[in-house]
Amino acid sequence: MSKSSGQGMCNRGPPRLLIGREGGESRELDEGDMRSISGHYGEDEEEDQSKRQIVVGICSMMKKSTSKPMTEILERLCKFEYITVDVFPEEVILNEPVEKWPLCDCLISFHSKGFPLDKAVNYAKLRNPLHINDLNMQYFIQDRREVYRILQEEGIDLPRYAVLNRDPDRPEECNLVESEDHVEVNGEVFHKPFVEKPVSAEDHNVYIYYPTSAGGGSQRLFRKIGSRSSVYSPESTVRKTGSYIYEEFMATDGTDVKVYTVGPDYAHAEARKSPALDGKVERDSEGKEIRYPVMLTAMEKLVARKVCLAFKQTVCGFDLLRANGHSFVCDVNGFSFVKNSMKYYDDCAKVLGNMVMRELAPQFHIPWSIPMEAEDIPIVPTTSGTMMELRCVIAVIRHGDRTPKQKMKMEVRNALFFDLFEKYGGYKTGKLKLKKPKQLQEVLDIARQLLAELVLHNDCEIEEKKSKLEQLKTVLEM
Ligand SMILES: Nc1ncnc2c1ncn2[C@@H]1O[C@H](COP(=O)(O)OP(=O)(O)OP(=O)(O)O)[C@@H](O)[C@H]1O
Ligand SMILES: [Mg+2]
Repeated sequence: MSKSSGQGMCNRGPPRLLIGREGGESRELDEGDMRSISGHYGEDEEEDQSKRQIVVGICSMMKKSTSKPMTEILERLCKFEYITVDVFPEEVILNEPVEKWPLCDCLISFHSKGFPLDKAVNYAKLRNPLHINDLNMQYFIQDRREVYRILQEEGIDLPRYAVLNRDPDRPEECNLVESEDHVEVNGEVFHKPFVEKPVSAEDHNVYIYYPTSAGGGSQRLFRKIGSRSSVYSPESTVRKTGSYIYEEFMATDGTDVKVYTVGPDYAHAEARKSPALDGKVERDSEGKEIRYPVMLTAMEKLVARKVCLAFKQTVCGFDLLRANGHSFVCDVNGFSFVKNSMKYYDDCAKVLGNMVMRELAPQFHIPWSIPMEAEDIPIVPTTSGTMMELRCVIAVIRHGDRTPKQKMKMEVRNALFFDLFEKYGGYKTGKLKLKKPKQLQEVLDIARQLLAELVLHNDCEIEEKKSKLEQLKTVLEM
């Protein structure tokens, strides 16, 4: 991500979602209603730096900018106190020179059909905002050959594949040998079932060829039309015009895992019925495509991280095929939001907002640290009501065994003890510690001597208790 050169302090304004701002004029989208606000980027900008908000520009085709997930996420994003969201109008993107495009500090821009990516790249060069999704990488994402090359370079598992380029300038890249149950692409053999994908990632006419043992023919996938995503064809021979990737068919449980990243540390995943099965799209009573919950493994989370970073796309969708105990990436789509998930909308806006604040707050002189929010408290619904989810236990543990104290206290009055006290310099500090065997022997000798005298003369002047002297003797003898 590169940083913007924007500067200035910002104020604590109400959440703002702007649409259609150009030069000194802005229009604010308020619950679907546009009304004019002014002075956002007026001529007095220099004098009024204290009013400056961080502007996040949304530059994409209208179909994407006004989609349900985008609207949901932008509404949440502009709740950040210092963030204003500005949606670039499609008309401006398509018809105005980039010099006339609205200014922004952070740019969320992505290619889709009809989007002038070259212009967006020029705009980014001109204004140098912070990028959420890198624009140059979006050229690669449109070409399956480049996507696979990058995946391979990053050491990410993908199906074994070969490229058949039908380029008249490079005939050496077009060696196809076809027989009933396999193809040989530039020397590499693919047995049926195999998959044939147009090199353009925008072309969704992916074909899967069945072996004769399964009745032959092929399954032709296409962009969903109503309740269909593919259709069976009796055609068993591969396409002879256009350039394709051929790859081995990975046998899954019949579902595709769709992964959606928001930065390298966040990924949502869900499974859908593979269009390669019978082509009938599974829909619920509301007509929404049925999705199955998925928990990503640690390995898959690492793959998500790698994909997000390798393609420099903070918001990035890709497909995983779980087969033979491994997960293979078969498609990277770039910018893509999860649909119909409030949790994702919340999380996504939060991650993006925090990212923008973390990157830009310093130059805007906004003191910023990622806040601990109420939502972070792990309260989960369960069958027996909501409760706190135990996330971890941290313990510092020691054993309970303790060595019993080996101490004895004894009052002494006999001069022999005082002589010993003096002999070892006890009067200098008022206390004395005797540790050496010789010294302890001397204490033992005194104890023995006093005990002997006590035995001989019961009425002698020894004031120490006999029992104490015996204890002292026993301990020292031990
Ligand atoms: N190697 C493979 N093995 C098995 N199935 C595959 C393989 N490659 C693709 N598929 C199936 O074909 C479907 C379409 O393939 P892929 O995702 O590459 O094409 P796409 O048209 O770019 O898809 P999208 O609509 O996600 O952009 C996948 O969702 C998957 O079900
Ligand atoms: Mg796909």
